[in-house]
This record gives sequence, structure tokens and C-alpha cells, in this order.
Amino acid sequence: MSLLTITHLKVLFPTQDGVVKAVNTVDLKIANAERLGLIGETGCGKTVLGLSIIRLLQPSTKIEGEIVYKGKELLRLSEEEMRKIRGKEIAMILQNPTTSLNPVLKVGDQIAEAIQLHQGLDKRAAKEKAIEMLESVKIPSPEKRANEYPHQFSGGMKERVMIAMGLACNPSLIIADEPTKGLDVTIKVQIVKLMKEVSRRKSMLFITHDLGVAAEICDNIAVMYAGELVEYAKTEDIFKNPFHPYTRGFLNSLPSRGLKQIRGISPSLIDLPTGCRFHPRCDQASAKCKIDHPELVEIENGHFARCLLYT
Ligand SMILES: Nc1ncnc2c1ncn2[C@@H]1O[C@H](COP(=O)(O)OP(=O)(O)OP(=O)(O)O)[C@@H](O)[C@H]1O
Ligand SMILES: [Mg+2]
Repeated sequence: MSLLTITHLKVLFPTQDGVVKAVNTVDLKIANAERLGLIGETGCGKTVLGLSIIRLLQPSTKIEGEIVYKGKELLRLSEEEMRKIRGKEIAMILQNPTTSLNPVLKVGDQIAEAIQLHQGLDKRAAKEKAIEMLESVKIPSPEKRANEYPHQFSGGMKERVMIAMGLACNPSLIIADEPTKGLDVTIKVQIVKLMKEVSRRKSMLFITHDLGVAAEICDNIAVMYAGELVEYAKTEDIFKNPFHPYTRGFLNSLPSRGLKQIRGISPSLIDLPTGCRFHPRCDQASAKCKIDHPELVEIENGHFARCLLYT
């Protein structure tokens, strides 16, 4: 059964230069205990999609469509109802621990604050739970470290703190936004292992542009390009048999597959190309790709792609 169902989601930012169509009619489901990877180049709308689920976008943002979580339409909830879901039911582990952690608050107190807010524990019990959480993300000497400030933590340790904070209230759905970004290889391996462990029996939307990491963690992968999904399949099918030329290009840019970059740059989300959004960069594009905008269709069992080569 699906825990989260996103239907026709659009997220639009009105700006002086025009409307940024950051998420453009996305349909997506996350089942119970499923780990879904969301991958794509920088600026394609991954973080905005994640933030729209927990409704952490600025008030001027235009959001259309439906996001149903455990039968509740999140976009229709009051801010107060949403606050009960955010953190407690759905937690987001944000992209940048350096800016997300409060530099003047002790790490243990920050986690305890989140616990107090959602679980109604008193201060002491919340602090104890915070220490437990630090231990669960394998921070050595958690009692001592809880009384330190974020600047006393290395990048990898800060990421662990972010994970501990996200998990403190035992959410059903974790949205993890690039938890391995900027970490060096050995630390990255440790964080991937930790993310795998902590997401066991939970649902997770794992946002990354690191395909290798997504392959390690995720059951299914959704590939995003210029605000829309262009491919969706089981992780192994994405790797073994990618359909969309963009997914193939993305795979070829992996170090293990020759580091070949896709030519051109991703389009402006204000002024999108006509037809297939990827056609200006696609080696297989034909004349009709400039005109027809393909739908995301199921090509093989459970394997979807948005490409005119298959229709
Ligand atoms: N508040 C905003 N106002 C206007 N445009 C925005 C706003 N927030 C995001 N955008 C734009 O929306 C698009 C999608 O941004 P998003 O942060 O979701 O990309 P991303 O896929 O997460 O990229 P990265 O991999 O670099 O994190 C970008 O073009 C970005 O500039
Ligand atoms: Mg992002």
C-alpha cells in the first residue's frame, strides 16, 4: 500500500523574470517500507519537490495538485495540523548541515528541542533521548558530544547529527536531501551504511545526484529532468536497461562508466524548450521531439519513461 501519493504536483515560483516551473506535473508514489531514490542534475527540482511534501516553501509559492499521506491531503491541512506531521510523521534531513544546525545551541539541546516539541517529554527525558539518538547514529562518546556546539563537529559528524535529529521522533517517512554531499569518500561510505540501517522498515525519499549512492540504498529510482519525471523503475532496471536518453547520459557520466558528460546545459525553468524538454541535448532527437511533449508511460512491467522513441 502506498504511504504517500503525489498527483499532478506543480510548484511554481513567481519571480521578476517570470514563473520558475520547478516541479511540473509530477506523479509519484512511495509504498510502506520503500526507499525511493530521486535523482537528476542540479536545479532540476529535487529539493523543491521534497520541501513541498512537508510544506516548507515560502508563502508566495504556487502549489497545485495533491499530496496524500496516510489518507490526509497535506496541501489542504492548516499550518497547525501540518506542524504535527512535520518532524513527527515525516522528517526531512536537509541538504546542508552547516546552515541547518544552530551554531549557538549545543548539539544535544537541538535534538532535545525537536523531541520535546513532538513527544511532550520533559527537558531531562528529552536530553536523555537525544543522547540515545546520537549513540544510534554512532557518534562516539555521545554524552560528552551532546554538550558540544556544531562547530566542534566535522562534516561527517554534523551529517550524523542531522540524521539523528530527523529520526528523533521515529517518523514513518524520511526525506533525505543529499546527505552525502560534500563528504569525502570514506565518510560517504559510512553515511550510506548508516542511512541504510536507519531507514530499515521505514519509507524514504532519497534525493541525490550521486547514482552510485542511490544504487546502494534505493529499491526504486525516479529520474527528474527540468521539473518533470522522465524515468521510473526498479533500481536494477535503471542501471541494466535505462530507456530514456537522459538516464543513459546520466549513467555514462559515472566515473565507473567513463565520466562522459551530457552535452549542453539544463534548460531554464522559466523558458522551457518546446516538445521534449531534453531534445536540445539529445543525440537521438528527431523533428517530432521538438514539437510533441511525451507522457510518462509504462514501457515494460513497472518501468516508465517519457520519450517518443518508445511510443
Ligand atoms: N524560492 C525560489 N524562488 C525562485 N526559484 C527557486 C526557488 N527555490 C528554488 N528555485 C529554483 O527551482 C529550481 C529547482 O531547485 P532545486 O533546489 O529543487 O534543485 P535541485 O534539483 O535540488 O538541485 P541541487 O542538486 O543543486 O540541489 C532551480 O532552478 C532553482 O533556482
Ligand atoms: Mg537540492
